[in-house]
Order: sequence, then structure tokens, then C-alpha cells
Amino acid sequence: MTDPREPQGGRRGVPLRRIEPEEWTTRPFQVLHEQWALLVGGDEHPNPMTISWGGFGTLWELPIVTIFVRPVRHTWGLLNASPFFTVNFMPEPFHRALELCGEVSGRDVDKWAAAGIHPLGGGTVPVPRVAEARTAIECRILAHLDLDPARFLDPAIDRHYPQADYHRAFLGEVLAVWTR
Ligand SMILES: Cc1cc2nc3c(=O)[nH]c(=O)nc-3n(C[C@H](O)[C@H](O)[C@H](O)COP(=O)(O)O)c2cc1C
Repeated sequence: MTDPREPQGGRRGVPLRRIEPEEWTTRPFQVLHEQWALLVGGDEHPNPMTISWGGFGTLWELPIVTIFVRPVRHTWGLLNASPFFTVNFMPEPFHRALELCGEVSGRDVDKWAAAGIHPLGGGTVPVPRVAEARTAIECRILAHLDLDPARFLDPAIDRHYPQADYHRAFLGEVLAVWTR
């Protein structure tokens, strides 16, 4: 199924098609760690933020994407205000956009304009995906959990939290996957 709303003038001019979550193939321990992704939260004022921590799996008999966001992020407030997000994997030429969206905050900057990327609505969730993405996943947040340092079993984990800004894990049911 092709999406008639997909911009035809994309990088390769190839529209994304919607597939079932079960059909999506990736390298789960490589794709976020090495390629990063743009997390978009917020329906009224959506904001892209770079992520490299997260996971893909099954919970409650549903396909689930889990993302980890520190409370200091502008995106943290957006995710708590509206229970939806998209995770967008970008083609190689957008590496600078990924760097920028991981350096500056949507509190201060319109990152869409600054990074040269565009929101694309009309999917299954009220939060847009990134029009230039090569793969985009649309999610509805079903639950969130705050990491509790009292439960860290390896003291080495503490080095990730010099500011004690422990991540909130957002568990999102996958409603749609769009890919080339
Ligand atoms: C490669 C990379 C990966 C990142 N991964 C995460 C992450 O998984 N969770 C997180 O809270 N912040 C992560 N960050 C930091 C945020 O992207 C960064 O603080 C961003 O400016 C927050 O944007 P916001 O304030 O608009 O939400 C990452 C940054 C980079 C460069």
C-alpha cells in the first residue's frame, strides 16, 4: 500500500509504504546504537530529538518500541502531555540533522527548520513522522516507568547519571511501520 500523502520529491522520490510491524526487519542492537533515530513527540508543537537508546520487542502480546528520555529534555514534557510518538530512521545524508537534533533543544530552536527536515502528518497518530525518513514507526504510549537507581545491580550504570537525571522509559505500542 502506498501513501498518497507521501511527498514525491523525497530524497529518492520513492514513497514509503505501510507494512505490518511483524514484517519489519532490522538489526536491533545496531540500528539505534550506530545509526541513531529522530524521536518526534508533541501533537500541537511537535519536536524532533535524536535518540540512540531504546528497544524493540513484545509485551502484553503487542509489538512495543521502548524509548528512554531524561526529564530535562523538552521532549519529556511533550511525551507526558500527549501519549504518542514516532521513531524515524534517516538516510545517510541527514547525519548532520541527527547531530543538530541531539545538540539543541526545541525549547530554544525550531529544529525542523534548523535541521532542514519536515513534519509529515496524516498517519495513524496525531504526532507527525519525519518526511525525509527511510523508515518511520508510529507508536501509542501504553505505560511509562522511571528508572530507579536503587535497583541498578551494576554500579557501572551510575556513570551515565552524574546529574541524577534518570530516564523515563516510555513503552509505545506500534500502530504502523512505514518503509521503502
Ligand atoms: C547520538 C545521540 C543520542 C541521544 N540519545 C538520547 C536518548 O536516547 N535519550 C535522551 O534522553 N537523550 C538522548 N540524546 C540527547 C538529546 O537528543 C538532546 O539532549 C536533545 O537536545 C534534546 O532535545 P529536546 O530538548 O528538544 O527534547 C542523544 C543525543 C545524541 C547526539
